[in-house]
Amino acid sequence: MTRRSTVADAASEETLSNLGHEDREFPPDPAFTAQAVGKAELYEQADADREKFWADQARERLTWSKDFTQTLDWSDAPFAKWYADGQLNAAYNCVDRHVEAGNGDRVALHFVGEPGDTEDITYADLQDRVKRAANVLLESGVAKGDRVAIYLPMIPEAVISMLACARIGAPHSVVFGGFSSDALRSRIADAEAKVVITADGGYRRGKPSALKPAVDDAVKDSPSVLKVLVVQRTKEEVAWNDEKDLWWHEALEAASPEHTAEPMDAEHPLFILYTSGTTGKPKGILHTTGGYLTQAAYTNAVVHDVHPETDVYWCSADVGWVTGHSYIVYGPLANGATQVLYEGTPDTPHKGRWWEIIQQHKVSIFYTAPTAIRTCMKWGKEIPEKFDLSSLRVLGSVGEPSNPEAWIWYRDVIGGGKAPIVDTWWQTETGAIMVSALPGVTTLKPGSAQIAVPGISVDVVDEQGNSVDNGHGGYLIIDKPWPSMLRGIWGDPERFKETYWSRFKGIYFAGDGAKKDEQGNIWVLGRVDDVMNVSGHRLSTTEIESALVSHPKVAEAAVVGATDETTGQAVCAFVILRGDAVQEADEPGEGADLVAELRNHVAKEIGAIAKPRQILIVAELPKTRSGKIMRRLLRDVAENREVGDVTTLADSSVMDLIQQGLAKPA
Ligand code: WTA
Repeated sequence: MTRRSTVADAASEETLSNLGHEDREFPPDPAFTAQAVGKAELYEQADADREKFWADQARERLTWSKDFTQTLDWSDAPFAKWYADGQLNAAYNCVDRHVEAGNGDRVALHFVGEPGDTEDITYADLQDRVKRAANVLLESGVAKGDRVAIYLPMIPEAVISMLACARIGAPHSVVFGGFSSDALRSRIADAEAKVVITADGGYRRGKPSALKPAVDDAVKDSPSVLKVLVVQRTKEEVAWNDEKDLWWHEALEAASPEHTAEPMDAEHPLFILYTSGTTGKPKGILHTTGGYLTQAAYTNAVVHDVHPETDVYWCSADVGWVTGHSYIVYGPLANGATQVLYEGTPDTPHKGRWWEIIQQHKVSIFYTAPTAIRTCMKWGKEIPEKFDLSSLRVLGSVGEPSNPEAWIWYRDVIGGGKAPIVDTWWQTETGAIMVSALPGVTTLKPGSAQIAVPGISVDVVDEQGNSVDNGHGGYLIIDKPWPSMLRGIWGDPERFKETYWSRFKGIYFAGDGAKKDEQGNIWVLGRVDDVMNVSGHRLSTTEIESALVSHPKVAEAAVVGATDETTGQAVCAFVILRGDAVQEADEPGEGADLVAELRNHVAKEIGAIAKPRQILIVAELPKTRSGKIMRRLLRDVAENREVGDVTTLADSSVMDLIQQGLAKPA
């Protein structure tokens, strides 16, 4: 059995049949439709002439320093060029032009720190800081085209740094602050970053959480890094390297506030963002300027229904993920929106923190992940009910399939029984939203991402690449190039072609299984490759397996994503120990210590988000005759199901052994 035939697996039969029976529908409210940014005509316009549609979007939503003459060049497929002879500056589009249009006093960011500190940053303030930060980067030796790594908490400097990079044409590589120093080091090395922007730390669950030590550790072995810019956030003591380290606040204060944004070619690289793939090595997904910004701005406007003059928008993602790139930084700022930027967790200092922020800032558009909704559901509706959430008029979700129960709860408890919910499907690779309802246009179906947004063409196909009929399942694909598509994998064009374009000739394979219902709505079922989705975060089974095997006590490891009620999937590891460690684990009480040691080891290698929920020490792993681990059987064990067909195992007694071992009292 190959991994590819796991559509039915990943999308367990049970999920399929549940989804098939969901028939509640929510037609748009005419009052909402009347004011909606997204109009039904967009579908017809895009169908009539796709390229013209995207040319119009680019010109309507962005300010170009030089207009383009060709919308799409697909002659070197799968390497696309959009608006190639046009020029623009992304930071100018996100900041300066709003100030020039007289909106300098509009709040760009309502920053809310976890300890309760707040700061309102207007577009004019943002412009001043971005210009100064751009000058600091230039003085630190960063030239156009050089890469900058950003490893920051969710504070305004994260947004400012990204825009400062965009302003000078230095592609940023944001590394999620929860990743370990090893993960940071490998990303710095892959992109050969010249500068790292970090902070002394941030606040997490009521306490300062240091970041600088991880950077110090990573930079020691990073010859490409010339300078480390350090934001002072927690004021905790940090080690200091006089040759490399610079305080952000000192450098910005000393820097000139004058800087003219240089127009970049539309295809100039804007950023690299590393994401997990099916192998151990994360892929640096490359996005460029014009197409990415066009689709980020367009989807943010029509899907989230952003009216920049009146709305307060809040996307709860971290800037370390693509959602933060497209729907905190580039989309909403290109549209001139006012948004909330929150540093901390939803339950610090109390479980109503998010709802309190929504009440305080009269947030009208809220975009989060299904995991968060399920967690809040578990905490109980009494918590959000204590707050006035009546300002909310659009709700969104992203990152994983949202189940109908959570969807209905989200609409009723958070959205006052009336706010439309947009369930948006997209990926780091797609750059921006691809499949989603348009609020005010689409009749909503709880649990389905629904249909491609105007201008995008997706389908569900069978093993041979043929479109499946409504009512059937298969693989989710994208059959026409789109403006914000990835332009490649940093430094690895072959891997780009192989990963996305070889499964079905000439079409993009997303790695997800999906089903079309009788009306043609798309129900995304989850990954069909070795990628897990834990709380909306992408993790690679192979990467965690390599981390486990790098521990001296581990001989072999297999990782599976087991269904989890709250986090969608959870990491479950099956580990075979080396000789001496086996005896140690058998000593009374030692097994638990060893499991804790291995969990911490994964956190050190990758980051706390990758820590397995469960590690099971086993004597054998189920393998086929050709030596391939049958993860499907391990998933059965992890999900407490009866173990499936074992006939293709080299040794069919292995599963009995595993189960007997697990049944033994610890
Ligand atoms: C999953 C996050 C179901 C999917 C923007 C995809 C979803 C992966 C949805 C990309 C959704 C994202 N419904 N599944 N609405 N949105 N996914 O790169 O498996 O972190 O391939 O991008 O998340 O994760 P990534």
